[in-house]
This record gives sequence, C-alpha cells and structure tokens, in this order.
Amino acid sequence: MAAAEPVTATMHIDPAFVVAPVRRRTFGSFVEHMGRCVYTGIYEPGHPEADERGLRRDVLDLVREQGVTVVRYPGGNFVSGYRWEDGVGPREQRPTRLDPAWHSVETNEFGLDEFMTWAEVAGVEPMMAVNLGTRGPQEAMELLEYANHPGGTRLSDLRRAHGREKPYGIRMWCLGNEMDGPWQLGHQNADEYGRKAAETARAMRMIDPDLELVACGSSGPDMATFGSWEATILEHTYDQVDFVSAHLYHEELDGDLDSFLASSVQMDNFISDIVATCDHVRAKTRQRKRMNISFDEWNVWYMREFLQHGVPGEWVRAPALSEDDYTLADAVVVGSLLITLLRRSDRVTAACQAQLVNTISGIRAEAGGPAWRQTIFYPFAYTARHARGEVLRVECRAPLMTTAKYGDVPMLDAVATHDDDADALTVFAVNRSRSESLALGVDLRAFPGYQLAERCVLTDPDVRAANTSARPDRVRPRSVSGAAVDQGRLEVALPPVSWSMLRLAKAR
Ligand code: AHR
Repeated sequence: MAAAEPVTATMHIDPAFVVAPVRRRTFGSFVEHMGRCVYTGIYEPGHPEADERGLRRDVLDLVREQGVTVVRYPGGNFVSGYRWEDGVGPREQRPTRLDPAWHSVETNEFGLDEFMTWAEVAGVEPMMAVNLGTRGPQEAMELLEYANHPGGTRLSDLRRAHGREKPYGIRMWCLGNEMDGPWQLGHQNADEYGRKAAETARAMRMIDPDLELVACGSSGPDMATFGSWEATILEHTYDQVDFVSAHLYHEELDGDLDSFLASSVQMDNFISDIVATCDHVRAKTRQRKRMNISFDEWNVWYMREFLQHGVPGEWVRAPALSEDDYTLADAVVVGSLLITLLRRSDRVTAACQAQLVNTISGIRAEAGGPAWRQTIFYPFAYTARHARGEVLRVECRAPLMTTAKYGDVPMLDAVATHDDDADALTVFAVNRSRSESLALGVDLRAFPGYQLAERCVLTDPDVRAANTSARPDRVRPRSVSGAAVDQGRLEVALPPVSWSMLRLAKAR
C-alpha cells in the first residue's frame, strides 16, 4: 500500500514585510473585583507566600514570568457600580458593600492604592477604568485628581495623607465598561453613552491633556448593535479618545472542536469590522488621526452560564466564579489569538487577556495553597518574552480545513517578529488540524546566516489534557531538537492541534 502523502505547508518570511512595531501593551491582562481574582488571588494576607502588605509573592512571580505588561483595573462589570473612594484610606473605615455585578460582598480591603502598589511590585503599567454606569464626569475627574495630581488640592493631598506622596501618573483610562450591554449597571444607548464619554473625556483632558483614553466599543461581534454602536459613539468622541475597546470570548460549543480551533478567524474578522467602522467615522468627520483598538478583554471562557441566570447563592465575599480549567486545545486557541493580535498590531495597540488570576485565568491560586500555571499560561508567556522588534507578515500556503462556523480555513496560523538590532527572528505557528501533522517548509533566504536557536512545541496526545494542583506540569511546551536551516530553508513538523515557537538567530 502506498504511504499517505505528507500534508505540507510553506511560509515565506522577509524583513521588508513589516506590519508594525511589536507593542508591549499587546501583552496586557486584567484584574477585576470578580470571584477570586483579587481576594485569594493577587491579595491574601496570612497566606504563607504573602508579603507584609498581603500581596502573594508566588502569584507575583508567575505574573512576571508570564510577561504581563499592562493591567486593567478594577473592572469589568464591577466598575459600573463602583465608588473608588470606598477603597482608599484606613482599612477599618472602609465600607463593606454589595457588588450587584457579581452578586458578591465587597469589603474594599483592596482598592486603588493597594492596586498601584501591586502594579509597581509586579512591574506592570496600570490601565484604569472609571465608572460611567452609575457615575459620570465629576467622579472621573475626582479620581484623576486623587491619582495623578501632585498635591495642594483636597484629593491629591488625601492621597499624600494615605502615604502616597508621588502622583501615580496613570496614562491609560477606560471610559466605562461594556456600556452597550443590557446587563451593565447604568447601560445606555449609543447616543447617551457617546455624549457621556465625550463629556468625561473632555473634562479629564482639561486636567491632563496627555491622557490616553479608551471609549467603550462593543461587547462582542454578536451584539445586535455592533457596528452602529461604534459608528455612533465615535461620532461623539472621535477627537477626544485614542482607542475604541473590543471584547471577545471564545468557547467550544456543541462539541465543535474544529470551529473552536479556528476561533482566531472570528477575532480577525471582528478587528477588520471595527477598523472599517473607525475609518468610516474618520472620513465622515474629516479627522486626521487613526483610531486604535484596545482589545481589553479576550480569552477562552466556558463558565459563564450564570450571566444569563444570575450568580447563584448567598451574598458572599470572593465566591469562586469562572474558574475554568484549561485544556491543551484552549492553549492552542490562545496561542492563535495572540498570533492574530500581533498580526493586527497596526491597529490593535493594546490588549488585555481577561483575567489574570483564578477568574478566567492562566494562573490558578488556591486559597492558603499553591499557585500554578494553566495550559493557556504558556503561549502567552513565550509570546510576550520572544515577540520583539517588528511584527512581520508571513506569506503562507497551507491546506484548508472545513469548519461549521467559519467555512474553509487554513490549517496553519502564523506570524513572525524580527528584532533587527539583536539579529533575532521568531516564528509563532499553530496547526489547527485535529488529524494532520503539517510538514512546514520555511523560506528564510531573506535572512542569510540565521540558524535555528530554539524550537518549542506545545501539544499533547489528549487535547483535553489540563494542569491541576496534583499535576501542575501535565501540559507544558517541550524543546524539540533535530531541525536546522539548510540553504535558507527550515523544515519542521507541526503536530496536530499544536502551538509552536521557532527562534532563529544570526550566527556570529
Ligand atoms: O471578564 C469578565 C466580564 O466579562 C467583565 O466583567 C465584563 O466586562 C465582561 O462581560
């Protein structure tokens, strides 16, 4: 019997095919007062690993290892009913309140000052959200005065009295959260939100014209108002804001793994549609600047049925919400979503995986126990560490696979980054096929002298394999040897359902 033909794919890379610089803000994350992300996530006084401020050092180590660059805070749906003043000052005077967004009790033990301390220790940039649900421009200005004004005013002096002499200098601010969503506290229609966001932005810029402001885009491409929402709110805000936000979560539905593995097609289409709408408003309103996208919530998320029916049970502090256990397949999807975010770095200039710890997260931390890396931690960490310099568009030829949701899609999803100063080229590639190994030929003739420095593959015979506290290293990337560049060509095999990183460096 004749052997089956190997399934081949080719990739051409050229240093001239530049998309944009690699944006460090692509590797953002999100800390929301939701579930156990804050309490028993990043903050747990009394935990054996906690420092004197209650910050978990084991979690901080993982956050640094993950390479997170910017962190959005404090929500999410939470922010739309939040009073930031509740979370500053002496702890014993802070009020305990109901958080209607997550049907939880919020003790306010952790607030702005604690978050800023945590962000400094973690080495991340803060991205702060203001409440435009139950509040408006006045409270946003007051928060800005507290956070960023040097001193000599009531609120800046209050910060100093709380032991924070130097202003925080927070640059990036989100004007509310998912205001298009009927579930949102203070939900508005596009005209109402557009006007409120524009007024808030104008007021904040009167205090500091150099802020970078994000207007709320759609909560996803399936929202009935998607497109018209962006068009309307941008007509109100275009000259006042720098970004429009995008949110999108993926999940495997009805056992349709093929469509799930092609999830990045949906993200890519979503970005194209937002860009088209932004550019339409730009032309219509005769603006010069191009609007960028802050993709400030994205991930794989299964445990969200309570969004329809409400969070069950009593009002408690930090209930375990959306603690998804991620599989190898989820990690491969996260890897390809990162490939998309990089490939669209010309317009997506900030992005936050939602969320950082426990809730919809790549890091799991047990209360009083250990913290470990979920499968989705790895493609994020490796991409954040090795995507450097400029993003290069790669020209690929690959066989197609048929999916129920997205039609025919290429089995191969890939991007490259090139750091000219360091003579380093990194290729990130996903094989979406469940059945075929791809024999990939990479044409590197435009990179004379480059050799393979490292090849890592994240795969597993069981696509449902996950990491647990008992087996925290069940799924992790493995180094693979045996391939080399020969006459400007590299041949590697990409196993079915896998994420790979190929690092090449110029021989010196
Ligand atoms: O990240 C979880 C939630 O998802 C956020 O609070 C909200 O913005 C989105 O719907």
